[in-house]
Amino acid sequence: MHIHPFDFSEAHYRVYAAVREAAHPEVLLDIAVLKHLDQTRAQSDVLERFLVEQGGQAVGVMEFATPYYDPKPGALEVRYHLRPEAHSLEDAVWGFLMERLAPHSPKELLAQVREDWPEYRYLLAQGFAEVERRWESVLDLHGFDPAPFERPLPPEMALRPLSELPWQEEGFQRALYALETSLLQDVPSTEPINLWPFEVWQERTLNDPNLLPEGYFLALQGEQMVGVTMLFKSSRPQTLRTGLTGVLRSHRRRGLALALKLRALEFARRYGARYIRTANHQINRPMLAINEALGFIKEPATVLLRLNPVRQKPG
Ligand SMILES: CC(C)(COP(=O)(O)OP(=O)(O)OC[C@H]1O[C@@H](n2cnc3c(N)ncnc32)[C@H](O)[C@@H]1OP(=O)(O)O)[C@@H](O)C(=O)NCCC(=O)NCCS
Repeated sequence: MHIHPFDFSEAHYRVYAAVREAAHPEVLLDIAVLKHLDQTRAQSDVLERFLVEQGGQAVGVMEFATPYYDPKPGALEVRYHLRPEAHSLEDAVWGFLMERLAPHSPKELLAQVREDWPEYRYLLAQGFAEVERRWESVLDLHGFDPAPFERPLPPEMALRPLSELPWQEEGFQRALYALETSLLQDVPSTEPINLWPFEVWQERTLNDPNLLPEGYFLALQGEQMVGVTMLFKSSRPQTLRTGLTGVLRSHRRRGLALALKLRALEFARRYGARYIRTANHQINRPMLAINEALGFIKEPATVLLRLNPVRQKPG
């Protein structure tokens, strides 16, 4: 087995994508998203990624990094994938990762894996414990009928896409950031979410190569933003991916989230997409209620795992 540092070249991204696809053909990796996240890392972020070779062939990838979506101080997120025929390398890969991350003295290690992946069982055997579960789910727009869900909007409310709003102005962006960070803090999750600073959010969201300003909808009361939902492009064929959906507490249970989702689905249909994907925490009953009613079908859960405290290797 040979281990090479990942050099962030196009060639290495291609190798990464090929290994990841061989390991998990059922969950497509959007390499453009991975690149964008890599390129928008904060200066202080840790990111060490490696390629694993055997017999001159790339058979694995592994990394440890500051968690992307929840940059918790002292936490590192670990990830590895091996081609099915290289599974016997699991112990060696894990040993290498533990040795390389030890100098960072992480307070905890996190990992996100699907419950049906071999990594899930392996990490549990290493002492990781479940923190929470999310479901990814998919709606097939063929055969979807919005009519049973359609209601008039509450008075004084309007739904507008970002493309019709001054979204390139910083004042507008700061108001949108305030809305989204306030909604994120309301997303039911086991632990509070660590928010991205404004500049990181601006770079990662508004400069996302998959951003669709026409598919990013705001609920407005006059000039006040009170709700949001958004669809992003996806490398999956005929697919759009949902980002955050949320409505301010003061405006909930008036049908705004459902109206926003319907508007986004109508956009997706016109855009030519057939599948809409979304991910929800298993404890997020309000959001799951809406998605279940619309007909989203759940896939196996993605589990957030944690190892805490990190055991140091003796000697
Ligand atoms: C989930 C959320 C967006 C719902 O917004 P909303 O505008 O209140 O939802 P709607 O009024 O459109 O609700 C439509 C239907 O969904 C279901 N629903 C909504 N909230 C619910 C709740 N708290 N409990 C149970 N069912 C709920 C109901 O069937 C409701 O219809 P009804 O009010 O006629 O009974 C809102 O609670 C929210 O912003 N939560 C925090 C952010 C979040 O978790 N976002 C999802 C993560 S991506």
